[in-house]
Amino acid sequence: TNHLRHVESLTTLPSGAGKIFPLNAVILGEALASEEDDLIFSNKDFSNQAHVSSPQKYLEMYKRSIVDPAGFWSDIASQFYWKQRWDEHCVYSENLDVRNGDIKIQWFKGGVTNICYNALDMNIQAGLGDKTAFFWEGNDLGKGATLTFNQLLSKVCQFTLFAHAQLANYLKDIGVKKGDAVIIYLPMLMELPIAMLACARIGAVHSVVFAGFSSESLSQRIVDCKPKAVITCNAVRRGSKVLNLKDIVDSALVESTNNGVSIDVCLTYENQSAMTRETTKWQIDRDVWWQDIVSKYPTTCEVEWVDAEDPLFLLYTSGSTGKPKGVLHTTGGYMIYTATTFKYAFDYKPSDIYWCTADCGWITGHSYVTYGPLLNGSTVVLFEGAPNYPDSGRCWDIVDKYKVTLFYTAPTLFVNRYSRKSLRVLGSVGEPINPSAWRWFYNVVGDSRCPISDTWWQTETGGFMITPLPGAWPQKPGSATFPFFGVLPIIVDEKGNEIEGECSGYLCIKNSWPGAFRTLYGDHERYETTYFKPFPGYYFSGDGCSRDKDGYHWLTGRVDDVINVSGHRIGTAEVESALVSHPQCAEAAVVGVEHEVKGQGIYAFVTLVGGVHYSEELRKSLILSVRKQIGAFAAPDRIHWAPGLPKTRSGKIMRRILRKIASGQLNELGDTSTLAEPSVVDQLIALRDT
Ligand code: PRX
Repeated sequence: TNHLRHVESLTTLPSGAGKIFPLNAVILGEALASEEDDLIFSNKDFSNQAHVSSPQKYLEMYKRSIVDPAGFWSDIASQFYWKQRWDEHCVYSENLDVRNGDIKIQWFKGGVTNICYNALDMNIQAGLGDKTAFFWEGNDLGKGATLTFNQLLSKVCQFTLFAHAQLANYLKDIGVKKGDAVIIYLPMLMELPIAMLACARIGAVHSVVFAGFSSESLSQRIVDCKPKAVITCNAVRRGSKVLNLKDIVDSALVESTNNGVSIDVCLTYENQSAMTRETTKWQIDRDVWWQDIVSKYPTTCEVEWVDAEDPLFLLYTSGSTGKPKGVLHTTGGYMIYTATTFKYAFDYKPSDIYWCTADCGWITGHSYVTYGPLLNGSTVVLFEGAPNYPDSGRCWDIVDKYKVTLFYTAPTLFVNRYSRKSLRVLGSVGEPINPSAWRWFYNVVGDSRCPISDTWWQTETGGFMITPLPGAWPQKPGSATFPFFGVLPIIVDEKGNEIEGECSGYLCIKNSWPGAFRTLYGDHERYETTYFKPFPGYYFSGDGCSRDKDGYHWLTGRVDDVINVSGHRIGTAEVESALVSHPQCAEAAVVGVEHEVKGQGIYAFVTLVGGVHYSEELRKSLILSVRKQIGAFAAPDRIHWAPGLPKTRSGKIMRRILRKIASGQLNELGDTSTLAEPSVVDQLIALRDT
């Protein structure tokens, strides 16, 4: 009944004297909004064919998902293949309240299944064997390849057998088996999702590391999860540059050996378009060429059946403090959740051609390049290259070439003015999209015809949490609209009190959903501390959010020390520690600032050790230090030389003030009287332009 009350509060305004938010208004056929409400209605034809064709339909489904989550999700899960069904009496169990003991989330416990089997074998059995699973578009124009579902399954099987037989029998008998970790450090070649699916098929836990991370970051992850093997390629072309990935892996492996973790097998794909074998450095007792081994194996392979709660993958992500966290997702709930969110948020139909520009190194590439779409039998475009190579029209050429109907990207990529006839639904993720960018995406790219799914979610959530359902209800430019089925978002004030109606505060989730992460690898305590202790009783997202008078949700960005740069999530603490490791840097404080292209840019305040003077050369070498330790994508956009940092008397850096200085809001510095040395602020302002 608590849940039910919450649903009611979502649909009625406590203070609005009986006023009902637009979903109900639409149902009732009432006159809707005044101009300032800026509602964008989807066209009738679209709505008529949509999975969720009206607000009423959504409300019906949503209410059921909240009132009877077990029934709602069981019905959906029943459409998948389970070797053994889950315990009907306990479809899920959850404790999200630290005050009641350990946080524990389980879905479909007792169920036995395999996500790779559901994504490939089941679709083939349903007659999709000859349907294209992947259109692969290379970095260079004219380079491409295609795999049908049948071919994809063969490749995956060859690879799983490689993992089983080759590693077990020939290479020191280490054998990758159920539960073992495998690190994948590959660019967007088809071998990346193939390797992920192969791990899933044998119950191994993949941990994909984005191939833009430096060797130090890679080795940190290797040391944390101790994989049985590392999979990479010799090199990749990105735009006009060649990146030598194998060299990066080699140094990461040296570094991890120094830290007590050695890897016996480094499987390397020969990416001929970037580099030849002859010029690739090789360690004969450890390195294996993919092409020499994998294709020798049979193209069928048994499935390892796993428990719904067996781990599927680890994905490291940045937090506000300390080292990256290994977000752990399990099999059953994640499978059901990614498949269902994909189907509804993109209004997926079998004839769709879907392209998501994300790299499999991030959660979007796990849930919405690989698992979600393939589980639905969708054709997926994979793109190896950079969106602006050879020019900024590349994205739209790809949309045209493959007749993409569902296009999912980050606001950063809304780069050029084209409209494309094949498009049906547009998706956006990773950062708040401002209303003018939204309108441009809608009016120009989508020709005022395609609904926009502005999907709010996180590595931790596994799948979409707040998202429009195309055609279901009117949109507001810049709003992620309403919760997905089964999700109860709430907004709390700083004391953790739930606030209702028109409000703004911290975004939390009140219940568990199937796609939720279950722990941080090896550190359940940190899981509880980071996500469940700030506001006891709830999952805390780290994001700010407001809800307008009509019940629409507006994400306002991170409220902790995490920044989102071009869809890459970066912890300010990581950048600071990379800067401080530079011998001439005494102290560093990093904040995010608004950036026209990247969403947020990285702004670093740096104090130098005594006697050192700032110079252009030093600036470059500080930036290099970040590139080396994290990766090029984390390089600060701006270094601000600081004689000192504003601190409280207890020594805490006042980032609020630094953010204002960084963004030039010098009249809004607020109260500086609690600073240990208020004069620091004036010095910083004076040095802004040096
Ligand atoms: O701040 C939110 C932002 O991205 C964060 C999650 O980052 P990550 O785990 O790397 O996953 C990115 C892809 C899901 C969130 O805490 N974010 C994500 N989607 C949106 C968003 N901010 C506003 N609007 C969105 N649609």
